[in-house]
Amino acid sequence: MRVSASVRSQSAREQLVRLGCAATVLDVRDAAAVEAWFEAIGPHDALLNNAAVLGPRRSLLETTPEDVREVLHTNVVGAFTVARAALRHLVPGGRMFHVSSYLGRHALPDYGAYCLSKFALEGLARVVACENPALLSVALDPGMVQTDMLRDARLGGPIDDATTAEAAAVRVLDLFATLPLETSGTTVSL
Ligand SMILES: NC(=O)c1ccc[n+]([C@@H]2O[C@H](COP(=O)([O-])OP(=O)(O)OC[C@H]3O[C@@H](n4cnc5c(N)ncnc54)[C@H](OP(=O)(O)O)[C@@H]3O)[C@@H](O)[C@H]2O)c1
Repeated sequence: MRVSASVRSQSAREQLVRLGCAATVLDVRDAAAVEAWFEAIGPHDALLNNAAVLGPRRSLLETTPEDVREVLHTNVVGAFTVARAALRHLVPGGRMFHVSSYLGRHALPDYGAYCLSKFALEGLARVVACENPALLSVALDPGMVQTDMLRDARLGGPIDDATTAEAAAVRVLDLFATLPLETSGTTVSL
């Protein structure tokens, strides 16, 4: 299975290449770079639409339009840009997982901009699914994973009750291989 991935650090790129992915360093907010990357890798089987930022931890009253624009720029416009570019190159029967969150379906105080972005991402997964019945497009709720984002969300508190990033990656690769087409347009939990 040929899986494409984009990251923002060279070390993360090297890890993905070791796992057999076609990986590059790019900013998902840069539409020209995203388009060029997918042109360069050509046909592939699977995409993990993963890049996101947590944004500010503030009530809606304290959140500014600029805060929301900033989070949506990466988490929604970036994810849309990646999905649109990948659509032209995924093989028939290809798989697209858009990494959502519990907060893509449930509200949590003080994470308004992030919640808004993940609700929109759930919509993106469904629109891709209904416009492309030959593809599998799902929103993927990864649960709690031991990453920098979870560390930030917990304000530096312990995160060792969460799944390791390595275990989550193995489960994602397994789902790429096994998830039935009938699940397209839904949210799948890891
Ligand atoms: N960890 C959890 O418990 C949890 C729970 C629910 C959902 N999620 C979702 O899981 C996904 C992965 O998050 P994570 O936990 O691994 O968080 P993370 O440690 O903060 O990683 C986020 C990733 O997105 C990249 N990124 C951010 N902005 C980008 C941009 N403009 N262009 C390209 N890459 C960009 C980051 O690159 P840099 O490191 O270079 O900034 C980083 O590799 C996200 O969609 C997140 O919302 C995570």
